[in-house]
Amino acid sequence: MRRTRLGLVGALAAVLVAAGLAAGPAAQAHERQPTLAGLAERHGRYFGSATDNPELTDSAYTKILGSEFDMITPGNGMKWYATEPEQGVFDWTAGDQIVDLARRHHQRVRAHTLVWHSQLPDWLTGKEWTAAELRAVLKKHITTEVRHYRGKVYSWDVVNEAFNEDGSYRETIWYKTLGPGYIADALRWAHKADPHARLYLNDYNIEAVGPKSDAYHRLAADLKARGVPLDGIGLQTHLALQYGYPATLEDNLRRFSRLGLDTALTEVDVRMQLPVTDAKLAEQAAWYRDLTTACLAVHRCVGVTIWDYTDKYSWIPDFFPGEGAALPWDERLDPKPAYSALLDALRQRAVT
Ligand code: G3I
Repeated sequence: MRRTRLGLVGALAAVLVAAGLAAGPAAQAHERQPTLAGLAERHGRYFGSATDNPELTDSAYTKILGSEFDMITPGNGMKWYATEPEQGVFDWTAGDQIVDLARRHHQRVRAHTLVWHSQLPDWLTGKEWTAAELRAVLKKHITTEVRHYRGKVYSWDVVNEAFNEDGSYRETIWYKTLGPGYIADALRWAHKADPHARLYLNDYNIEAVGPKSDAYHRLAADLKARGVPLDGIGLQTHLALQYGYPATLEDNLRRFSRLGLDTALTEVDVRMQLPVTDAKLAEQAAWYRDLTTACLAVHRCVGVTIWDYTDKYSWIPDFFPGEGAALPWDERLDPKPAYSALLDALRQRAVT
């Protein structure tokens, strides 16, 4: 009788533990205060935020950055203008500061970005280069930067924003001087410099199926067929309420999975025309929920990163006058409805 009762107690305890109801203090605290990262981890995903060096002196800000997320992207600190301000002179100060901060908080780093047409130093843009010269400049930059961060970052956005809206190649300094082969070259050089980093192509307005995402699908299929080291496609996901939700996001993620590629939502924000209203915040929350659910539904969608987490440090008001309020935390660092919506989306049962 006694043995039976003990057996029942043991069985009940096992059930409670399995249900997360009788776990230790740490797990209970975790249950009471779930984080985006903690919930995402249950799905085998990460939940990240971009950050930037100037705001790292804001301790209320870094507290949330360090506790709520498990993946960090430097918003500017690893870009060319910051890392090679003079030809052949490398400066890792800004990027290292963010890598060190992430390490202290046991966070991984999505490194961003090696090849882009924007935020290039003057020495690079202010001169006519021959193809051979520019190729050497690009190879040296990629090799040096990727080697510096070897073993310290999870992934690289190797090429950023290579296509126009109609799916034609963007006429950047790289494309115009080197032709489309610069993309495969960049991936190969990056892979050689850090064979373990996951290598991405990254762009905006490729969340829905359409000419621009079709161009990435074609390019990715071609690169894979040729054995070029490409691991994933980053969908920046800078959305705006006035342009509508990209309803084909999940289908789009799936077709990249079928090519054997990871996908990630890499720079999410959902801006709105100001002033903020409760209705707009509710719609924004639904979009954050839906895009997270779409990622969770697709096995190879590895995680979501928001482009900083608070309206206090968002890039939107500077670039789109009259728009803003794009992130899940407001300017006072208080969570908005979008934050609860993210928690709700991540509380869904794992489906992969
Ligand atoms: O460094 C100067 C500083 O010396 C000066 O005092 C200050 C005055 O405005 O400007 C500083 O440069 C700013 C830079 O960010 C660093 O803070 C630039 O003006 C500003 O234009 C630049 O904006 C960045 C933007 O990329 C440039 O296109 C944003 O912070 C950054 O969040 C944004 O990130 C991009 C991704 O890399 C790619 N996808 C789109 C995304 C949003 O534009």
